[in-house]
Amino acid sequence: MAYCKIRHAFTPFPFYLLLATLLFAPFCAIEASRPPFACNPGNGLTRSLKFCRASLPIHVRVRDLIGRLTLQEKIRLLVNNAAAVPRLGIQGYEWWSEALHGVSNVGPGVKFGGAFAGATSFPQVITTAASFNESLWEQIGQVVSDEARAMYNGGVAGLTYWSPNVNIFRDPRWGRGQETPGEDPVLAAKYAASYVKGLQGNAAENRLKVAACCKHYTAYDLDNWNGVDRYHFNARVSRQDLEDTYDVPFKACVVEGKVASVMCSYNQVNGKPTCADPDLLKKTIRGEWHLNGYIVSDCDSVGVLYDNQHYTALPEEAAAETIKAGLDLDCGPFLAVHTERAVSRGLLSEVDVNNALANTITVQMRLGMFDGEPSAHPFGNLGPKDVCTLEHQQLALEAARQGIVLLQNRGSSLPLSTRRHRTVAVIGPNSDVTVTMIGNYAGVACGFTTPLQGIGRYVRTIHQAGCSGVACTQNGQFGAAEAAAQQADATVLVMGLDQSIEAEFRDRVGLLLPGYQQELVSRVARASKGPTVLVLMSGGPIDVSFAKKDPRISAILWAGYPGQAGGAAIADVLFGTTNPGGRLPMTWYPQDYLAKVPMTNMGMRADPLRGYPGRTYRFYKGPVVFPFGHGLSYTKFSLKLAHAPKDVSVPFASLRSSTNSTNFSHGVKVQHTKCNILSLSVHLDVKNRGNMDGTHSLLVFSTPPSGKWSTHKQLVAFEKVHVAAGSEQRIKVDIHVCKHLTVVDKFGIRRIPMGEHKLQIGDVEHLITVDANLEENS
Ligand SMILES: *[C@@H]1O[C@H](CO)[C@@H](O)[C@H](O)[C@H]1NC(C)=O
Ligand SMILES: *[C@@H]1O[C@H](CO)[C@@H](O)[C@H](O)[C@H]1NC(C)=O
Ligand SMILES: *[C@@H]1O[C@H](CO)[C@@H](O)[C@H](O)[C@H]1NC(C)=O
Repeated sequence: MAYCKIRHAFTPFPFYLLLATLLFAPFCAIEASRPPFACNPGNGLTRSLKFCRASLPIHVRVRDLIGRLTLQEKIRLLVNNAAAVPRLGIQGYEWWSEALHGVSNVGPGVKFGGAFAGATSFPQVITTAASFNESLWEQIGQVVSDEARAMYNGGVAGLTYWSPNVNIFRDPRWGRGQETPGEDPVLAAKYAASYVKGLQGNAAENRLKVAACCKHYTAYDLDNWNGVDRYHFNARVSRQDLEDTYDVPFKACVVEGKVASVMCSYNQVNGKPTCADPDLLKKTIRGEWHLNGYIVSDCDSVGVLYDNQHYTALPEEAAAETIKAGLDLDCGPFLAVHTERAVSRGLLSEVDVNNALANTITVQMRLGMFDGEPSAHPFGNLGPKDVCTLEHQQLALEAARQGIVLLQNRGSSLPLSTRRHRTVAVIGPNSDVTVTMIGNYAGVACGFTTPLQGIGRYVRTIHQAGCSGVACTQNGQFGAAEAAAQQADATVLVMGLDQSIEAEFRDRVGLLLPGYQQELVSRVARASKGPTVLVLMSGGPIDVSFAKKDPRISAILWAGYPGQAGGAAIADVLFGTTNPGGRLPMTWYPQDYLAKVPMTNMGMRADPLRGYPGRTYRFYKGPVVFPFGHGLSYTKFSLKLAHAPKDVSVPFASLRSSTNSTNFSHGVKVQHTKCNILSLSVHLDVKNRGNMDGTHSLLVFSTPPSGKWSTHKQLVAFEKVHVAAGSEQRIKVDIHVCKHLTVVDKFGIRRIPMGEHKLQIGDVEHLITVDANLEENS
């Protein structure tokens, strides 16, 4: 019914509106849509202002607009709920919307209801990361931004989304680890760039579908631990760890993802609040990475650095310091209140304010917000029919399937068979949950399939919660759970965590299953007649050593927070209609690891003299419950190296710089090489030796030459491949030499160590000798 698509934006002719309503109301519901943000063609006073002329270059329009604003008007545009400028025909705008894994209602910019009752709720990011599938991440971004644009057109959402969260999941206790793509910088970097590309669209160079934001810059990954909270935490970070770990995803987000925004964090880094640090904002993000976009504070973090950290004596000093450091927008009221005084006292010049506004307004122009009618925009015709579509919901299911990790499968007890396992006992506090599956920074889902419902699509179920919540403070219902397991042909326990255990402002205190959960699992496994499968929902890792060792527990799956269709995906994996291929994006440490690592210690590298074991698989060598990258399949893959170079020569950019760099024991500084072209390809044959089709993730790790470099391995590339049962595929993996075959020295300088680098892909090992190419310069 094409003629039903009357979407009346506000027009200045109420009569028209009335007529349209009268004419069409009996036949179809009229979608209300938002009035133009600015440059309303119906507004004769403003429509021909220079900044409204879409044909002019954006920087010309931005300059024109800023030139028309008074200082007071400018200052009220420095905050998330930017004020209207009625005399110029500009509406107010709420900058704060979120879309971490679906359009979210965490920010005030999004309101569900009316024609937009829900939006597709994808798995939490930690789960999606486990798919190691870049095209999936980008595709999710595309769907989320379709829905975001539709909701914007409908007047219920913004266009500026403060997602993704790409902080490194440094400590397993972090309550927000679930929001991130995990502990590895290369994985997080690729996730950041892919998701941002999906959200922002790959349209014309300077156009944005929606504006994404990588947060929280930088070294922010502590919420509230042992009396230290993020508002007061001073993260002491070495230059080496900053360059080597914490900054990696942010750099990729800006440089490769071309993100339109970066958010600075609450915490301090080395004694300075990040939002007031010109080295981090102006010098690094804007100067070195060339951000084309705006820098926003975390919500009220400018207030926090004044009120909680007492970083400046006066509030106007805080306003001046943050803006001069490179902050363009304040999430919170602080800058609207205190900036005028900063200018009048001479702490800040109006030019600094203009520069900040130029960055925010440029993004709004790139979004088309100054182009008049939203319906004229390339995405202007997206509406309610484009939200929660079958296709979108199918992608949410697919993402969950790809993210589920098979941790253990004793004697190939999985998949279950609908023939042999006609009745399944479904037990546990997470066995019939809905919102638990979408984790935090979620929205209102289109609908849910719980694990119980998902399993119920395959077989008859007997359900027992076992305990009333994940805290599992009582064991009174355990007898009923055991009885259910006794009657069934197989038992599935869905256990784990939820936002009461790990969340924003809530770091975990331990890594074990909470309360009596462990006892429930063990008792049910003992009572169970058939195989017992443990399914874990959580963002962070869980020490399930007890279950790993228990011969009665046949299999263990990790589902993360699998999103709105999570229960269907879990069931598909349990019954083998999906062959699991997810891999852990973080190390699963044993509980006793925690005692050796205060959460406040930001050091990545081990310090054996002090008994500090180091963090993540790159530096920690101790025992693990399950390692980073772990994940099994129902089929068996074998890998063979087809071909790969045995050596690679790094060309120097100039003889001058090379002379001093030829002391190879220091490695060659990346900045002295002509590195943009230097990548090498490794070709591998992946054979599926089993009798079930499956996907295999090739994770390529490298170890630098031995020497004074800390001999760790690090992920340098990954590639996912689908291989049919019995067949073989050749896969090419590209490794960027100067990005990945590098180490970072203690001054934060990235170097390429000369000598033998060891590549490791599954059980394949290959040595590549890297040397310096001096002839190039003769
Ligand atoms: C080598 O390094 C020294 C000290 O860092 C510097 O003074 C000198 O100019 C450098 N030589 C060349 C050829 O770059
Ligand atoms: C190269 O570096 C090593 C280690 O720092 C040092 O001992 C050696 O003297 C240096 N050689 C030259 C030629 O500068
Ligand atoms: C990656 O995800 C996309 C999107 O769901 C899917 O089409 C593709 O098959 C996946 N790749 C592999 C190797 O599974």
